[in-house]
Amino acid sequence: MDRIKKVAVLTSGGDAPGMNSAIRAVVVSAFHSNIEVVGILRGYDGLINWETVPLDMESVRSISDRGGTILYTSRSEKFLKKECRELAAKNLMDNNVDAVIAIGGDGTLRGAIDFREEGVNVICIPGTIDRDIACSEYTLGFDTAANTAVEAIDKIRDSSVSHGRCSVVEVMGRRCGYIALWAGMASSADAIILPEKWDGNYQKVIDSIRQHYENGRNSYLVVVAEGVTDAPQLAEKIRENTGIESRVSVLGYIQRGGRPSAKDRMYGSLMGAYAIEILTSGRSDRIVAIKDDKLIDYDIKEALEIKNNSLDAFQYKLSLMLAD
Ligand code: F6P
Repeated sequence: MDRIKKVAVLTSGGDAPGMNSAIRAVVVSAFHSNIEVVGILRGYDGLINWETVPLDMESVRSISDRGGTILYTSRSEKFLKKECRELAAKNLMDNNVDAVIAIGGDGTLRGAIDFREEGVNVICIPGTIDRDIACSEYTLGFDTAANTAVEAIDKIRDSSVSHGRCSVVEVMGRRCGYIALWAGMASSADAIILPEKWDGNYQKVIDSIRQHYENGRNSYLVVVAEGVTDAPQLAEKIRENTGIESRVSVLGYIQRGGRPSAKDRMYGSLMGAYAIEILTSGRSDRIVAIKDDKLIDYDIKEALEIKNNSLDAFQYKLSLMLAD
């Protein structure tokens, strides 16, 4: 393979804290390898529309502490169409771009796999608060999101304790329960409802809250992952069956925003620099991943086939014990 002279970097899917550190590390590492970097705006849409921004050392100097992504993002519907991917590939070729670094979640990874058909070399960096890319122990944004959720829940609890209420707090995660598990455990929740484990048994939740009530507890906290069950309905069932006043808080997009934690800045930097190393060593179509706390990479297609994304068994067992 010829030496890589120019790369494009983009962020796609839900924004995640730490993406800016990854962009910065891509640009700085590329500079040291004599590679030019062009920033693509609004994810895969920007490849199709050729919306770009030049990136140099100066433009990424102080972006690591910023939430969101300086390159903006999208969930591109157009990129699902072959003719649009062909146009994107042509734009890259016309502009002498040798490879694309795509930072995002599983939709981004799927896009990269489809883009392979057009002969484009894409290196993916897992960036999503959901921590749901099976091949990697870590995805950028999770740590900040979990901390934001815990901070919000601590505040909700102050009010819950003052009123002697039950708070049902819904957190994000799509089909993955890690934010709920971590935020719930760290906030000493009385029940944590996870997509991987939920069997539809409201009674179990109600019984455990009633038990806590009989033991003299004054307030209650239920953390529920989005999409598992209807949070207002759950709160209503708790009220009906226990007589305890219940309130719902949906944390929503605050979990995606804010200043990235040190961990997200650090992992963003490591992953960004590693993506450039992959390219300079002549590898193509890879995803950066963390295994046993070390940087590794997989072929993007093989990565998508890894399915062992079940929750950590010990963490789950402990969450049940702590909620008791
Ligand atoms: O993937 C990150 C995430 O925040 C999920 O937790 C959530 O389900 C989804 O994105 C929301 O997506 P959108 O920004 O398109 O509403």
